[in-house]
Amino acid sequence: MKLRTIDNLDLRGKYVLLRDDFNVQIVDGVITDAFRIEQSMSTINALRLAGARVAICAHLGRPKGTRDMKYSLARVAEYMKIKLIPDCLNRDFMADMHDGDVVLLENVRFYAGEEANDPDFASKLADGFDVFVNDAFAVSHRAHASTVGVAEILPSYAGKLLAAEIENLSNVMENPKRPLLSIVAGSKVSTKIGVLKALAKLSDTLIIGGALGTTFNYAIGERVGNSLYEADQRDTALDILQYAKENNCRVLLPLDKGVAKEFSSNAIRTNKTFEEIEDDDIIIDAGIQTVERNIDVIKSAATVIWNGTIGMAEWMPVWSYGSFAIANAIAEQTRSGNLTSIVGGGDTVAALTACGVKDDISYVSTGGGAFLEFIEGRTLPGIAILAE
Ligand code: 3PG
Repeated sequence: MKLRTIDNLDLRGKYVLLRDDFNVQIVDGVITDAFRIEQSMSTINALRLAGARVAICAHLGRPKGTRDMKYSLARVAEYMKIKLIPDCLNRDFMADMHDGDVVLLENVRFYAGEEANDPDFASKLADGFDVFVNDAFAVSHRAHASTVGVAEILPSYAGKLLAAEIENLSNVMENPKRPLLSIVAGSKVSTKIGVLKALAKLSDTLIIGGALGTTFNYAIGERVGNSLYEADQRDTALDILQYAKENNCRVLLPLDKGVAKEFSSNAIRTNKTFEEIEDDDIIIDAGIQTVERNIDVIKSAATVIWNGTIGMAEWMPVWSYGSFAIANAIAEQTRSGNLTSIVGGGDTVAALTACGVKDDISYVSTGGGAFLEFIEGRTLPGIAILAE
């Protein structure tokens, strides 16, 4: 898909409404991962250099149309050292702006009209601006006022991050170097049916892990004890395995597990095969044999797509073993030039950061849900509207 981009636009003195995704994690008032903000800087700097007057529109969390200050973007404005405009519909700030200035508008989701894509709200949001630039790939799967509504009103373009996301993800989907290995993990089969099928069709090998993998192990009749899995997704899991077979995709399920008697970060870890799992065992991570198998398969791949962590990656170091082994193996192979790697999803990217290998990956997507929907081949409304 070819998008209208900001290259070669004359933006000097123009008021630009820029949609960014600053939906970042903030713990005790501190931004714990600024990846999305950092990735947005190339467009912000380009607009600044072009002499545009930029107001960034963004959301944080799901305040459900109310002005809940728990979801204020104040910390983000502080982090970026730019002024926060306390109401995204107030335009008083415009009179004081100079070419190259940038401000941040308060959380657009404080208004119910945002998620409802209310035309009246969209026209108020567009009011006073000459141009709309969408750089918020991570929220482009939502048909909201700030992704679609304003794009219907103003001349609209894709920012550099959004264009880079589409280019990198399209390249790997359309023309992957083979063998292509996909690794999908996380907690729920029900949220990943579409992406599992899309990747089963595209990939030579599919590793399924995490709690999602446990559902597959359960579906094929293995013992899973007192673990987290979705009993009601048994038929879906079997259907996906059949679909992969029909599409000549080899599916690799967990072979053994790291288990404990309690679900806690300092629980005692034991390695068990599925036959050894007892009724009160809780699966928390991949087992040793599974990890070694995963590393071997990564070493023989030319392309890897990875989404979803295995085990409780945040319970370091004992329960992060499965995820960190994947992160390190992918990073090592990419560094040595043998692998093209694409990683997406908030928890997965956090695991890369925790391992200190994020910079080694060929492309790290800022998208969570948007990344999955793109890979699934769905049309993302915030992007479709920017097509040439
Ligand atoms: C994300 O964090 O994936 C995006 O910002 C979208 O957020 P949402 O799922 O609340 O729409």
